[in-house]
Amino acid sequence: MKITLSVIKADIGGYVGHSDSHPECLCEADNKLAKAKESGLLIDYHVTKCGDDLQLIMTHQKGENNTDIHEMAWDTFVACTSVAKKLKLYGAGQDLLADAFSGNIKGMGPGAAEMEFEERTSEPVVIFMADKTSSGAWNMPLYKMFADPFNTIGLVIAENMHQGFNFEVHDVKESKKIVFSTPEEIYDLLVFIGAPNRYPVKAVYTKTGEIAASSSTQKLAFIAGRYVGKDDPVCIVRCQGAFPAVGEVLEPFAQPYLVEGWMRGSHWGPIMPVGVADSLPTRFDGPPRVIAQGFQLAQGRLVGPRDFFADVSYDKARQKANDMAYMMRKHGPFEPHRLPLDEMEYTTMPQVSHKLQARFKPL
Ligand code: F6R
Ligand code: MG
Repeated sequence: MKITLSVIKADIGGYVGHSDSHPECLCEADNKLAKAKESGLLIDYHVTKCGDDLQLIMTHQKGENNTDIHEMAWDTFVACTSVAKKLKLYGAGQDLLADAFSGNIKGMGPGAAEMEFEERTSEPVVIFMADKTSSGAWNMPLYKMFADPFNTIGLVIAENMHQGFNFEVHDVKESKKIVFSTPEEIYDLLVFIGAPNRYPVKAVYTKTGEIAASSSTQKLAFIAGRYVGKDDPVCIVRCQGAFPAVGEVLEPFAQPYLVEGWMRGSHWGPIMPVGVADSLPTRFDGPPRVIAQGFQLAQGRLVGPRDFFADVSYDKARQKANDMAYMMRKHGPFEPHRLPLDEMEYTTMPQVSHKLQARFKPL
């Protein structure tokens, strides 16, 4: 049975500030998706949040980039924005960059990761959702899951994974894509994905062409033509059998790494794995958070979720992320805590330079 798993998300308003989502908005989303399920458009759905981002996890049989599914998700965000406006939530409707729906939600502000596949006898999937960071945040963990034997022992000792995986990488600046075959091309791959802001990993495939992982690579900055906030990306990963085991898929997050985002979308900070209830970016509007929801699919039914990062085995990762946050914060307004000039979401550089123009003398 061919199933499409669509994860579509948007920040439709924060509570309080940019730190969390309001339960009434989640409730409105639930009502809308319940109707879509009743009508037969969706097989199943799960509504959740990561920080101030509303997450719609949906299964159906319409394929990727389906207009009916995207329009229903857009209408859901619009309805939730009305609730957010009524409560005067912060930045109500901030990710809805278009006035009206026009065929495909991509390019209109919300982020989307989708994949269509033949459901296996047992189909475990993990959905990662992040807040206060940008679309390249999955590059390092996807590399570790699918190409690094120090993370994924299956690449070495499991016969059905030993041949490696293909990585589809996007150039978000020039709208181009390229596929790398690993392990043969890992050095070439790393030249690109080591610059995650420009070259996010869009998808990973088995060598036989089965989809293994799919991420949202929409960059709000490029859509709006100016910086309008971090992308807060999502990523779907299939697990077990010919794919990495659930524990191999989760393992990269045991070592917090630095991502772009955090306060005013203008800082490097550690990504902290947390349960949904703890996806509350608070300190200096952060540090960035990631949640992982696990489901078994049963004819498209979403059996779950398991809230993986609520587990005590991630306590130490949280502690490490907090230690890294203290280390980065000591730099205050200096790089490498603050992002380089051309990547900051906020800057006063043009105004300040203009004001001081006459005082700049040749060296
Ligand atoms: C980061 C983020 C927040 C805001 C900050 C200022 O992605 O959303 O850190 O940038 O709270 O928000 P404004 O400019 O809306 O007052
Ligand atoms: Mg957010």
